[in-house]
Amino acid sequence: MRVYDPQTPASPESFAGRSELQEYVREALDTGARLGKGSSMLLHGYRGSGKTSALRKIQSIVLSTAPDAVVVEVPLRVPSSEAMLIHAIAEQIRRTLAARPGLSTKVRRALDSLSAVNVLGTGVERTVSGVPGSTHPLTVWNDALGALQGVPILAICIDDAELLRAEEIGILKTMAETASPIPILLAIAGGPELKEKMSQKDASPILRVFSGAVFDIGQFTETETREALDAPLKRAKISIQWDPSAVGTLHHLTHGYPYLVQCFAAATFDQRHSPTSADVRLQTPAALQLAASWLERELPDASDEDIRAFARIAGLGRSDLGASDIRSLRIDYRYITRLVAEGVLKRLARGHYELRKAPAIAYFHALRRGLVLEPVDG
Ligand SMILES: Nc1ncnc2c1ncn2[C@@H]1O[C@H](COP(=O)(O)OP(=O)(O)O)[C@@H](O)[C@H]1O
Ligand SMILES: [Mg+2]
Repeated sequence: MRVYDPQTPASPESFAGRSELQEYVREALDTGARLGKGSSMLLHGYRGSGKTSALRKIQSIVLSTAPDAVVVEVPLRVPSSEAMLIHAIAEQIRRTLAARPGLSTKVRRALDSLSAVNVLGTGVERTVSGVPGSTHPLTVWNDALGALQGVPILAICIDDAELLRAEEIGILKTMAETASPIPILLAIAGGPELKEKMSQKDASPILRVFSGAVFDIGQFTETETREALDAPLKRAKISIQWDPSAVGTLHHLTHGYPYLVQCFAAATFDQRHSPTSADVRLQTPAALQLAASWLERELPDASDEDIRAFARIAGLGRSDLGASDIRSLRIDYRYITRLVAEGVLKRLARGHYELRKAPAIAYFHALRRGLVLEPVDG
């Protein structure tokens, strides 16, 4: 097994940082156990920032706190419907339970009930004991949950949720808010489009469900980068350590962008000696080669000036951009227009833009082209 691997989500043992998020999960489990109450959390971040990794970590925290918990991860590969979403969740619960040895009769009943959830067309049909008939998806869902009584907590993780439509987000909200026989921890992760969907006017009640539990999965701090480099070594019981200067250089070159951190770590670490700052610089072309499998395809036609402008905007560390930011970054409006045309920025209102593409794209191309990014004085 490779120590560093940019192409797979981090294992829970190698998961670094995001301490606020981890703390929230622990508190939510405590609330669930004491008061029987559920919680919801929303994770947003660009591609390669660690959303899937964070969902895996959440699952592992839940299971280590409550071993009898039922934990499901629902990946969304195609735009779905309300009924399909409930079906997908139910089916994952069924599979999780079916894999458990020594099921109680109660849980076995739940299993049967969930198997009865059958999606036909856009509605949900219930085919128990030969009496098919249309039932609202939520009715089927509540029945199935009733049978799960005794399970300490049900954790539902929805990945790539930007594929959901407002209706499906709405049904998730209802599931989270409706009094349930067992506490539900709902974690939803998605890219910038999700954030936009959630902040639309008619969606504001949805965002309220997540009040206080919206997590921005962004770039690592230097401490988090160090942790991301150290944790896999500890896990693999390797005694070699990264030289502190190497950590600093790697963090500087990657801006702490998790995907790039993994690419640089994988390219630099050789299991024979402590990597130094010079090693990191020497292996930069190899690291970029690893990163190319995703990033080369992004913005292939961008000019150096486009990349510089994008990188400066990314350096703000925020996804929203106003006229005063553009002024202080001294970016010509010509490039703003070009970045909008390339889909890097989305114009929200006059003088207001949102960064829609992953900052990693700018950092990758800047390094590949050897662009020196002059510091911006405030
Ligand atoms: N908290 C973390 N600690 C260590 N590595 C991380 C962390 N978050 C992400 N990574 C690494 O970054 C890369 C992208 O993570 P991933 O979870 O797939 O991102 P996303 O789902 O947002 O696209 C993976 O190689 C993963 O190992
Ligand atoms: Mg992912």
